[in-house]
This record gives sequence, structure tokens and C-alpha cells, in this order.
Amino acid sequence: MSNTHEIRPGQSVELLKELHILTRDGKMNQDSRRKLKQVYHLFQFIEPLLQEVKTENGRLTLVDHGAGKSYLGFILYDLFFKALADDSHIFGIETREELVKTSRALADRLGFTGMSFLNLSVADSITSPALPETVDVVTALHACNTATDDAIRFALAKQARHIVLVPCCQAEVAAVLRKNKGQQLGSNPLTEIWRHPLHTREFGSQVTNVLRCLQLEAHGYQVSVTELVGWEHSMKNELIIAQYKNLPRRRPAQRLESVLASLGLEAMRERFFTAPAETNADA
Ligand SMILES: C[S@@+](CC[C@H](N)C(=O)[O-])C[C@H]1O[C@@H](n2cnc3c(N)ncnc32)[C@H](O)[C@@H]1O
Repeated sequence: MSNTHEIRPGQSVELLKELHILTRDGKMNQDSRRKLKQVYHLFQFIEPLLQEVKTENGRLTLVDHGAGKSYLGFILYDLFFKALADDSHIFGIETREELVKTSRALADRLGFTGMSFLNLSVADSITSPALPETVDVVTALHACNTATDDAIRFALAKQARHIVLVPCCQAEVAAVLRKNKGQQLGSNPLTEIWRHPLHTREFGSQVTNVLRCLQLEAHGYQVSVTELVGWEHSMKNELIIAQYKNLPRRRPAQRLESVLASLGLEAMRERFFTAPAETNADA
């Protein structure tokens, strides 16, 4: 793909240079192309969601968890938020202070006034007064380990309309599968699926995402799971998009309970059951 295809009309060349996507002489930095490709691809999924909220609410708030260098936040701001003449806002949540400082400085330099970066863990951001009571869109791109789970909790607590997740590896579920493997082996032939250590890890990772989807469905969300980019770009390319539709919750909640019980994962119940914010949990 040529440079002209990857830089879009109206896009800040200064931003791309600052994110080291363009070299100082305006050429594509090959190492960063992969990241940009992922983020653009993700933008195609996120843009219609932003448009929908904007049309209905007139403004929007997006929180990006485990923001890192905030590639996603900056590209979303540059391609969508920058043109909005309202108080729409992007918050980036990140535990590494130096990345938060760098992102703040870059937003200042570029005049991206509708962006804030908070040096908080995802878990702490749920109750932080620095964030609004409700948010429209929550994103988490490769947020490490259980940070994706905390991002789901955040989204549920803030009654997010849209949740966009590209999970990283999560080790917790695999650890419980591993611990209980001996007990399970005799009782269930399907345990063969995770008997070998490598399979325990891979199956644990897949089950984690299955449980996340059921958790979201149990809160009335419609969930779609797709691929972010081809395998050659990233090993972690599962894209989970959840849209709040107030759907019936009882069946996914029962399924979640059954899956945990069938796999000997009862110890993970706390992780995937979150008290609903609304009242019609029995629907
Ligand atoms: C793999 S990087 C991804 C960064 C960015 N989202 C991207 O895709 O380029 C994960 C980031 O999440 C941050 N992180 C990990 N656990 C976190 C937590 N519990 N709360 C907030 N940030 C976290 C890390 O410091 C790191 O910058």
C-alpha cells in the first residue's frame, strides 16, 4: 500500500510524524505501518458507532483503556472528533506515567483540546471523579491480561452504548483450568481439549473471550466477534463489538453459569458476573 493510501484527507501529517508513523522526511516508517493498519481497520468498525451516537446525542464521550502511546485515541480524534464543534471528548487511561505525559504534551502541541489522558489503572478509573458518570463508547486495544475485563466492568458501570475490545492474552482462566485439570480429566472426555499445556493456554484464552461475550449478553448487549486483521499482522486479532440493545438477559446468564460449571471454572464467577446497573435484569 502506498503512502497516499494510508494518509487520509484532512489527516494531521504532524500527528503521524509524532507517532513515528511518518519519518521526519515524510516517508512511512515500516515498523509503525502495522500499527497504523490495525488502527485504521479498527476505525472502520468504530466510525459508524461514533456517527450513531453523535446523531442521537449531539455529542459523545469515548474512553480508551490501556491507551499506551494512544495511537487509537489520536487517530480517532484526528479522523472524527477534530471536526466536531462541540464538547465531545476522548479519555485515554494508562498506568505508565511517562506515556500519559507524552500523550498530554502531544495533544497540547496539536491543539487537540478534546483529549485527556489519565494516569490511572482501568480498575481505578471506574470510580475516579475525573471521568463522567456515563460514557458512550469504550475501547480497549490489546489492554494487557485482565485490563480488558476491567474495561468491561467500566463499560457496564458507565452504561456504555458501544464497547470495542481487541483482547490481549489473559492468564487467569488458563491458570484455573490448569489447577483443576486433574479433577476434571476422569469425569469429562472433553477435557482432552485442554489436557496438553499449550492447549490449556490457548483454550483458556478462547474460553475467556467466550465468557466475556456471555457476560456482555447477560447485560443486554448484542455481541459480534470478528477478526481485526490477518494473522500476519498480530496474533491477538479477535475483535469483540458489543452494542447495547436491552436484549433478554436470562439465557446468556444461565449459559455463563453452565459454562463455568462444565469447565470447573466456578472460581472465575466473580470475574464474569457483574451486577447489572439497570433494573430489568430478569428480561
Ligand atoms: C500492549 S499495550 C497496548 C497499547 C495500545 N492500546 C495500543 O494498542 O497501541 C497495553 C497498554 O496497557 C497498559 N496497561 C496494562 N494494564 C493496565 C491497567 N490495568 N490499567 C491501565 N493501563 C494498563 C500498559 O501500560 C500498556 O501501555
